[in-house]
Amino acid sequence: MMKILPLNDTFRPWTNNFLDREWGPPGIVTRGKLHETAELSGFVAIENNEPIGLITYSIEKNECEIVSLKSLKEKRGIGSALIEAVVQASKTHGCQRLVVITTNDNTSALHFYQKRGFHLRAVYPNALDISRKLKPSIPITGIDDIPLRDEIELEMLL
Ligand SMILES: CC(C)(COP(=O)(O)OP(=O)(O)OC[C@H]1O[C@@H](n2cnc3c(N)ncnc32)[C@H](O)[C@@H]1OP(=O)(O)O)[C@@H](O)C(=O)NCCC(=O)NCCS
Repeated sequence: MMKILPLNDTFRPWTNNFLDREWGPPGIVTRGKLHETAELSGFVAIENNEPIGLITYSIEKNECEIVSLKSLKEKRGIGSALIEAVVQASKTHGCQRLVVITTNDNTSALHFYQKRGFHLRAVYPNALDISRKLKPSIPITGIDDIPLRDEIELEMLL
């Protein structure tokens, strides 16, 4: 039985290690901003006391941004449940918009977010050039060796 729990002190060490492993230190860059892993809010999906998924987000003024999302057991509803938890948290904080930035190589993320109610909002060509200035370890190619170049913004109006 899966549970979705807020990212609290119990999960913080696991989360920091996990994000460093998945995305590399010191954090995740979107729209020219470095989100430091340790400062992100989030939710953890838990099954048999083990984390099986993580979503992190950041709220500024009346806007919430999903900074990372990863499911460790795909196609079982974990990703959808984590998105729903952030939708509810955003509404509770009075946010009017939930946004997520993905990259041009991540076609499955485009599929996933659009099927969960997100709309395409903007494309930022060559945005990764700016990201690499903040985080030089971002690779040149991404999923399936697609050149990692552009950011794509999706939004859900709340
Ligand atoms: C994108 C991602 C988070 C989705 O997570 P997930 O746990 O597989 O998500 P869900 O299980 O909720 O949904 C995935 C699909 O499985 C389907 N599904 C859910 N439960 C299912 C079940 N019991 N049996 C069969 N299919 C199922 C969903 O309908 C969905 O398909 P659809 O999008 O065509 O409707 C995951 O693929 C991932 O971690 N990707 C790598 C990281 C990434 O790209 N993150 C996003 C960018 S930040």
